[in-house]
Amino acid sequence: MDRRRFLQGASVASGVLLAQPVRVNAGSAVSGASTAPADGVLPRVCSTWDFGVAANQAAWKVLSTGGRALDAVEAGARIPEADLRNHSVGRAGYPDRDGKVTLDASIMDENGDCGAVAALEHIAHPISVARRVMERTPHVLLVGDGALQFAMEQGFPKEELLTPESREAWQAWLKTAKYKPSANSEIRDYGVGPAGSKPGDARNHDTIGMLAIDARGNLSGACTTSGMAWKLHGRVGDSPIIGAGLYVDNEVGAATSTGVGEEVIRNVGSFLVVELMRQGRSPEDACREAVERILKRKSVRGADIQVGFLAMDKRGRVGAWAIQKGFSYAVCDAGKQDALIPGKSTY
Ligand code: GLY
Repeated sequence: MDRRRFLQGASVASGVLLAQPVRVNAGSAVSGASTAPADGVLPRVCSTWDFGVAANQAAWKVLSTGGRALDAVEAGARIPEADLRNHSVGRAGYPDRDGKVTLDASIMDENGDCGAVAALEHIAHPISVARRVMERTPHVLLVGDGALQFAMEQGFPKEELLTPESREAWQAWLKTAKYKPSANSEIRDYGVGPAGSKPGDARNHDTIGMLAIDARGNLSGACTTSGMAWKLHGRVGDSPIIGAGLYVDNEVGAATSTGVGEEVIRNVGSFLVVELMRQGRSPEDACREAVERILKRKSVRGADIQVGFLAMDKRGRVGAWAIQKGFSYAVCDAGKQDALIPGKSTY
């Protein structure tokens, strides 16, 4: 038994709180430039954007008491889903161009099991419905009315998710937008949203993607969003698509994404990041390569869109890369309770 497994086993078996991080020996095949936080630490959780700080705290309550990474990422993702100040995830998310709030989410565990919902209306916690899809059906993805019906059968309450503030923003957008969604509406077309906001800044980000590794060294991930603001009704982004918005391979690592989901679906981004890590790339380097593949497409103008990837490898190392400046991610472990890290970017 190697030292890492011994330490993990001792912590969990004794039920001792993990007050100190378990450093993971760097002697694996994984190589490449490292990113802060460079060294491997178990357990650890990371998530996209600044709302990840509060989400990480909820996940950390699970991880720090020896809990499972899957439970941690579900608990964490539920925080922004319930936050009324957040208009890009869950309740109070900006609606589609018809004024309907439609939510997308996915979850994946250390066994490669996964579940997802897309275009789900009226359910405040799509991440928990995604987990029920994984655990209580033979399927991976439920959409639209079928997803709503399943959620209600599972006891989730049917609710109005459009808040007065989100309705006001949508009505303001309708006045000038000619009912036409744009590729990066979360960044540019906020209507009554934040004046002078910059692409991907703290006030107009989108999806939360969360990755965790628990004290046993098992990885899980979750991804949840209200999708592109003012989208066509029925549009589904990358977040509920396993391999695009989220992917976990417990032998290698996990990845998630934020930004213009169409581009991430086109290059199966999160799967790509994990496969690049399998080939020996560091989490940051794998994320950068996935961003650069998007930018290689002829019809992509990098200045017009934002996509960011976040990855965690099997040692607990975390890295990220985005197309544009302004992306951030949060990391939490026994040594860092609220670290918000500016993401590196191509532009
Ligand atoms: N990344 C979220 C979306 O495109 O829907």
